[in-house]
Amino acid sequence: MKILVTGGAGFIGSAVVRLAVARGHAVVNLDALTYAACLDNVKSVGNSPLYAFEHADIRDRAALDRVLAQHRPDAIMHLAAESHVDRSIDGPGDFVQTNVNGTFNLLEAARAYWVREGRPETFRFHHISTDEVFGTLGATGKFTEDTPYAPNSPYSATKAASDHLVRAWHETYGLPVVMTNCSNNYGPFHFPEKLVPVVILNALAGKPIPVYGTGENVRDWLYVEDHADALLTVLTRGTIGRSYNIGGENEARNIDLVRIICALLDEMRPQGAPHDRLITFVADRPGHDLRYAIDPARITAELGWRPSVTVEEGLRRTVRWYLDNAPWWQALQDRAGVGQRLGVKA
Ligand SMILES: NC(=O)c1ccc[n+]([C@@H]2O[C@H](COP(=O)([O-])OP(=O)(O)OC[C@H]3O[C@@H](n4cnc5c(N)ncnc54)[C@H](O)[C@@H]3O)[C@@H](O)[C@H]2O)c1
Repeated sequence: MKILVTGGAGFIGSAVVRLAVARGHAVVNLDALTYAACLDNVKSVGNSPLYAFEHADIRDRAALDRVLAQHRPDAIMHLAAESHVDRSIDGPGDFVQTNVNGTFNLLEAARAYWVREGRPETFRFHHISTDEVFGTLGATGKFTEDTPYAPNSPYSATKAASDHLVRAWHETYGLPVVMTNCSNNYGPFHFPEKLVPVVILNALAGKPIPVYGTGENVRDWLYVEDHADALLTVLTRGTIGRSYNIGGENEARNIDLVRIICALLDEMRPQGAPHDRLITFVADRPGHDLRYAIDPARITAELGWRPSVTVEEGLRRTVRWYLDNAPWWQALQDRAGVGQRLGVKA
């Protein structure tokens, strides 16, 4: 299968690109190369005859038409997005432009291409989204695919809008779509502004490890390579028009996750131990959702997919990867906003 992956130079998109090529799919990686992109993420497949790169922006309809006509993919996996909640608080405009208008452009370009190709039933438009569209949970309960949408941040509101567009393009125009909403990812190549790399890199530098609020916020943690596997499962075997929640079956409070990472660093890099002495509670994020949890019953029952690693094992691999790949993250630390506290203006 030939797959057009948008956002393939980002964290999750690059994991999808690497896995898809490893499984013998041809991949066209379309990416605008924003601050969050890094082409080194896909260096391992860069010379593969199965891989091609297109430097293009999903806000540019003409570019999308050209790429689709030139490469004639069998499927689109749409991951390109502005993805950092804190940045969405400071600058929501970029999130509306890329996540809403960009997804609209891509849907329209995909629809025109699909019609031109004779409306093949085998074509897929796979929209990758987040569990944050469902809002926040209390101490109990889990998000199912039928949970009403209640996004609380500019980021999640724009992702929710894009989900609605994708659903409507299926219902109205018959575009063969599948949709996924996943929990918090972590793993290799995670951009150094997100929680897990921030904890690892600050701990290695002996800097304070910032924990928002009291650290009670609960997330379900999904190892990025498990997520990529789930996405290819849904792409190839999911039912058209259906959405699937993807979780890691690993709920943890932020503070507990941070302590696990510190303990792993104590073991693997004992020089700075105990690293948890660096934990520093800082002002909470405005509108910070208390708890997200995924009910993975549908993807498990219908597609037989389950995550392969526990959060302890996934974090062990992740910490090892950051210890072994300092040049990768050092090159990204000069990018605008990295290492600064963002999203406190509200
Ligand atoms: N990271 C998570 O935990 C998580 C969880 C659930 C869902 N998601 C979703 O998964 C997708 C990928 O997330 P990520 O963490 O890999 O994001 P990321 O920020 O690491 O990567 C996003 C990629 O999209 C590209 N991009 C941004 N705007 C673009 C545009 N206008 N045109 C073309 N390319 C553009 C960037 O250059 C970058 O390579 C997003 O849609 C996000 O909403 C992420």
